[in-house]
Amino acid sequence: MKFDIITIFPEIFDFYFKHSILKKAQEKGVIKIKVHNLRDFTEDKHKKVDDKPFGGGRGMILKLEPIFKAVSSLRNPKQIPNPKSRVILFTPRGKKFNQKMASQFAKLEQLILICGRYEGIDERVAKYLCDEQISIGDYVLMGGELPALVFIETVARLIKGVIGKSELLEERITKEKGFREYPQYTRPEVFEPKKGVQWKVPKVLLSGNHKKIEEWRKKHSKIIE
Ligand code: ADE
Repeated sequence: MKFDIITIFPEIFDFYFKHSILKKAQEKGVIKIKVHNLRDFTEDKHKKVDDKPFGGGRGMILKLEPIFKAVSSLRNPKQIPNPKSRVILFTPRGKKFNQKMASQFAKLEQLILICGRYEGIDERVAKYLCDEQISIGDYVLMGGELPALVFIETVARLIKGVIGKSELLEERITKEKGFREYPQYTRPEVFEPKKGVQWKVPKVLLSGNHKKIEEWRKKHSKIIE
């Protein structure tokens, strides 16, 4: 799987991709992540990526041409349309992202992610250039960079080999392919935040009785589909 990110703030991604599980995944060759600076796709000497909105209004709008050039350079012209590749635009107007969508995206080979910024992005990007518009929730951020990080982490961890202990992960994937989240504890068994107060680990988890433990986990699980 290759993730191609188009952004005017490539530095936002640097730290994260160099210091997380995603770094290891890239070293192992399980995924590839490439960050592309939108300014590298401009042709004027000021590397202008934004302009005033037609019709008037506040703020600046990301221009169409550099995004068009960036997307065109990343897509294999011999493979358009390519069922294994998607161009995604992050916008609060998009379809709300969830675990099921992440599983579908994890089966593909290339995801080109466009991060919007400023007050908006020329609507022709949404209309002609991208295959899907995605929102990570009903709130407005200042740009698509954090949504892209959320998206990549959610999709990447479903790709085989990204998370080391895949057997453990398998154990938590349900028949319906949802992900089973239940409370977990580690040592100490009893923690005393102050005198006379004890925060304890549920007894059943210390019992060694696997059947009972499984029942308890089932009861306290949330299935994320
Ligand atoms: N850009 C700004 N807010 C966003 C959101 N909630 N989801 C995706 N992209 C965004």
